Amino acid sequence: MKRLYSFLLPAAMVLFAVIAFAGDPQILLSPGPEPSTATFGSINKVFTGDWQQYGQLFTDWQGGLFSRVFLLILTIVPALFLLHFILIGAKKFSHEGSPVFFFGLFTRFIHWLAALSFSLLVITGLMVIFGKFIGGGPLVMTGRSIHLLSALVFAVTAVFMFFIWLKDMLPMPHDILWMFIMGGYLSKKKKPVPAGKFNAGQKMWFWLATVGGGVMAWSGYQLYAFDGMTDQLRLMAILHNFLGAALIAFFITHLYMSLFAIKGSLGSMITGYKPQEEVEILHSRYKM
Ligand code: HEM
Repeated sequence: MKRLYSFLLPAAMVLFAVIAFAGDPQILLSPGPEPSTATFGSINKVFTGDWQQYGQLFTDWQGGLFSRVFLLILTIVPALFLLHFILIGAKKFSHEGSPVFFFGLFTRFIHWLAALSFSLLVITGLMVIFGKFIGGGPLVMTGRSIHLLSALVFAVTAVFMFFIWLKDMLPMPHDILWMFIMGGYLSKKKKPVPAGKFNAGQKMWFWLATVGGGVMAWSGYQLYAFDGMTDQLRLMAILHNFLGAALIAFFITHLYMSLFAIKGSLGSMITGYKPQEEVEILHSRYKM
């Protein structure tokens, strides 16, 4: 019995100290004649922490903000590029001179694998976001399974892309200049722009796709495994949604640049070669 007291007394004192210092000492007072849910809620918080901190915010955003942000990106970004295409148009380069080798076979293979898996990620991710509007059920569940499989493939390609291109994607002082003139894309003139093998815009896309892709894989895994504190999962969902929105905005930009803004750009990711004039103008600091 004496032994039991000698254990219980210090334990009770430690518990008292934790409550008094970590929480609101007020709760040690009697809950009053009519103890309310709020009173017990505040007692609970001392032990469990505030696990509902992001509850309301998450419910509100999940209920509308996320899908509105995606809808906005899917409409505004292509509309801006359509305007650019109408007003400025594509940059066209002569195919005379000796073509410059830009992308090796393995690089092209990894790129197209990334392109395929990422495109599937975007399509199936949007299916989940707009699940309510496409009827939900097995269609969305299938989309979710494809999302997971594509994520596994994309994560591997992102690691390869990161190491293949890292050296050429490091920021350089001339990148600031490139951003000031918006890469020359606001003008129809063909004046050499300050860029090495990749320009500042391509570098942004690279970092977002590889490091951002890694963060997407990590947050997505936690959501899929549903493993963690409730509030932590809510934060992961918020991060996954906003970063996903930024990735889609840049993905549309990448598509516009490689399919429409620079005529023949797609060819370089198929054959590996770029026309000499294109390199001299768009990658003027690249040492051939
Ligand atoms: C499915 C559609 C895609 C198409 C048609 C496409 C096309 C291209 C083309 C033509 C280039 C060469 C650009 C140039 O130097 O002129 C390129 C480069 C590149 N692509 Fe893609 N790509 C696609 C998807 C992706 C995806 C999903 C990623 C990564 C998540 C990606 C990452 C890159 C990177 C990092 C480069 C080098 C930097 C740059 O040019 O932006 N691409 N892509």
